[in-house]
Amino acid sequence: MLTAHRLMSDDERRFELLADLGAMIAREVELDELLASFAERVARALGADRASLWLIDGDSGELRARVADRVDPEDLRLPVGRGIAGHVARTGETLVLDDVTADPRWSPEVDERTGYRTRSMLSAPVVSAGGRRGVIQVLNKPGGFSARDQVFVAALAEQIGRALEYTSLRGDRERPGVAVRGRFNHVVGRSPAMQAVYDVILSAAQTDATVLLHGETGTGKGLFARAIHVNSDRRDAPLVHVDCTTLPASLVESELFGHERGAFTGADARVIGKVEAAAGGTLFLDELGEIPLELQGKLLRWVQERRFERVGGRETLASDVRLVAATNRDLAAMVKQGTFRSDLYFRVRVVEIELPPLRARGDGDILGLAEHFVAVYGRRHRKPAVTIADDARAALCAHPWPGNVRELEHAIERAIVLARGPVIDARALGLDRALVPPAAAGAGDGVVLPGELTLDEASRRYAAAAVERAGGNQSAAARALGISRNKLARLLRGST
Ligand SMILES: Nc1ncnc2c1ncn2[C@@H]1O[C@H](COP(=O)(O)OP(=O)(O)OP(=O)(O)O)[C@@H](O)[C@H]1O
Ligand SMILES: [Mg+2]
Repeated sequence: MLTAHRLMSDDERRFELLADLGAMIAREVELDELLASFAERVARALGADRASLWLIDGDSGELRARVADRVDPEDLRLPVGRGIAGHVARTGETLVLDDVTADPRWSPEVDERTGYRTRSMLSAPVVSAGGRRGVIQVLNKPGGFSARDQVFVAALAEQIGRALEYTSLRGDRERPGVAVRGRFNHVVGRSPAMQAVYDVILSAAQTDATVLLHGETGTGKGLFARAIHVNSDRRDAPLVHVDCTTLPASLVESELFGHERGAFTGADARVIGKVEAAAGGTLFLDELGEIPLELQGKLLRWVQERRFERVGGRETLASDVRLVAATNRDLAAMVKQGTFRSDLYFRVRVVEIELPPLRARGDGDILGLAEHFVAVYGRRHRKPAVTIADDARAALCAHPWPGNVRELEHAIERAIVLARGPVIDARALGLDRALVPPAAAGAGDGVVLPGELTLDEASRRYAAAAVERAGGNQSAAARALGISRNKLARLLRGST
């Protein structure tokens, strides 16, 4: 991951970031989490130290930090008009400052709270159709921000503004800004299989018990992790997402537990880890089955005792964090094979929730989800009147959905994008166009080339089929495809 990023050109990185932002629009439930990871990537793409996003709270009218790297954003507020962020929110101007302290509008208030020292800053307004929404700030770029940086951040801010238009973060229409707090559960499905899941989620949410979510790819593990958090008393504290597939082995420890200044070459400041960042809230360890055996021991100690040390630190720290883990792997089988530690397995499966595959939820759920995504993407792609034809309903119910809800979501989005008239028919869904995964394909043949499938969507389906063939084992599927687990995870998410 790190090397891949280094090899990517500046332009590629920036382009990828914009494309990802585009893709996240309308994924309501995960917006918050995505924004947090974006701040990090925005900073990296610009060669700056960090980035933050401020949104105008519809209730109080003040600016509140939505993502603040390494600090609890809930604590950071500014009245509109105060500080540089306040100025940008009020005037809509984009500002580039090489030395913030020389600017009369600068207020040290936020730095005093975070312990961070801001020197240079690029600050742009986030605007949507509903008016001014907030401010994006990129901080401390060695050598200063260029005109190109300014154009790029303005484009990003515009995308964020559009994303906000489609999310449940949106406040009441009458009031300016965004309701920063709020429920994010847009969970669709009334089948008995899902009802049983909701019951366990709700009762588990009210406790601090560790929850293990198990289910095939695309069944909603990420969504339900969030549902657990927002339905718990911890909802006002952070939900911190750690994706074990994208953690480079050498950085796992410092990523989770942080490090002290001077702990290793390049560690020029103390950095707190995800475990500390999640204090009072929830840590979501995603794709737990992908964590290499040698790192499981490091995790176990914290899972057992909730105690840890920062890398290079002597002090033992405790953190009050609720753990939710997710995997599509059969951990019990991995324990038998010796690739997953049994002690860690027993510690994480205090409450184990099995998310049923879409095909086991019944036609009602499939059609309910299809309607939901038609509404979401109809709005998003400005085709609000599109409906599903009867033959398309039949095709949806007959499809086996190896990629589950995510596959359904992509199928509907694609059909909406390509729709020329007001109805989606069975042909437009393109569900009968099979792709043959590696083990079954002969040399060079076996791939049907469906004319209307985009390359991204084809890659995603091909990857999902490969995972299914590998019995849900992503590592094996990645090997069969000759790609890294990271790359596979990206393909499955439809973000290449
Ligand atoms: N019951 C549901 N109602 C509405 N949307 C859903 C539901 N379940 C899943 N989704 C949506 O489907 C997509 C895939 O869900 P999610 O990412 O949570 O799956 P996952 O199990 O984490 O997949 P993976 O194992 O590939 O990471 C997301 O956009 C999510 O919001
Ligand atoms: Mg997931």
